[in-house]
Amino acid sequence: MGTESIIETTGLTKAYGPHRAVNGLDVRVNAGEIFGFLGPNGAGKTTTLLMLLGLTRSSGGTARVCGLDPSRHARAIKQRVGYLPENVGFYGDMTAVESLQYVAALNGMGKQETHERIHEVLQLVGLEQSSRKKTGAFSRGMKQRLGVAEVLIKAPEVLFLDEPTLGLDPEGAIQLIDLIQSLNQERQITVLLSSHHLHQVQKISHRVGIMIDGNLVAEGTIESLAEERFGLGEKEYTLEEIYMKYFQEV
Ligand SMILES: Nc1ncnc2c1ncn2[C@@H]1O[C@H](COP(=O)(O)OP(=O)(O)O)[C@@H](O)[C@H]1O
Ligand SMILES: [Mg+2]
Repeated sequence: MGTESIIETTGLTKAYGPHRAVNGLDVRVNAGEIFGFLGPNGAGKTTTLLMLLGLTRSSGGTARVCGLDPSRHARAIKQRVGYLPENVGFYGDMTAVESLQYVAALNGMGKQETHERIHEVLQLVGLEQSSRKKTGAFSRGMKQRLGVAEVLIKAPEVLFLDEPTLGLDPEGAIQLIDLIQSLNQERQITVLLSSHHLHQVQKISHRVGIMIDGNLVAEGTIESLAEERFGLGEKEYTLEEIYMKYFQEV
């Protein structure tokens, strides 16, 4: 894993009136890693992702994504980063293939490239069998995987996934988590994964950040955070134990 940083922020802040949704965020995500971005509802995770994508303006601080400033180069960032928002929507009367054709067209892809890429991404996310099915009949797990297929169409270097397993049944969640891991391992895609499903995050993340009330209270490997909170010892702490410990101390 390289030490080149894909995301780097210093003092990144977003204020809504007097309220700071994100309060002076300093965080770094390295090339090739899966970074688990944790925190309860309202912590500021989505707001952070939107600032990194240049979809919302920051109130202060700086950010670099693939070396680019989101407030000036949102378009260039969009070409390199695939973003799966919290609530992905589809046109229910389109089939999976039609949805992907639509997204490819929006990305300005040619016919031949579209044809090849659609086949490839459907296979990657395990939806080849359902390619001619209307998305209105998809389960939530299938919809999330189609959402991932849509962001993979343009072969991004980085994926931002906002609560991708929310509302999935355990089987659907495991499939999606395994898919994210294989995209990282086999395609070297850097992943920023926001979630509050600690067990899933623990399974695949190289490093995590814990955000509470707009503040990043921890950043590091699970082992390093355990040591920071509990000291050196024989016991292996779960991410859940570590997370709860941070909560007790704010
Ligand atoms: N457009 C907005 N206007 C005002 N407040 C907002 C807006 N978007 C988010 N917030 C507030 O910012 C805080 C962080 O929200 P969010 O980034 O969505 O958190 P998370 O994704 O961690 O659940 C919350 O208190 C939320 O109510
Ligand atoms: Mg959110």
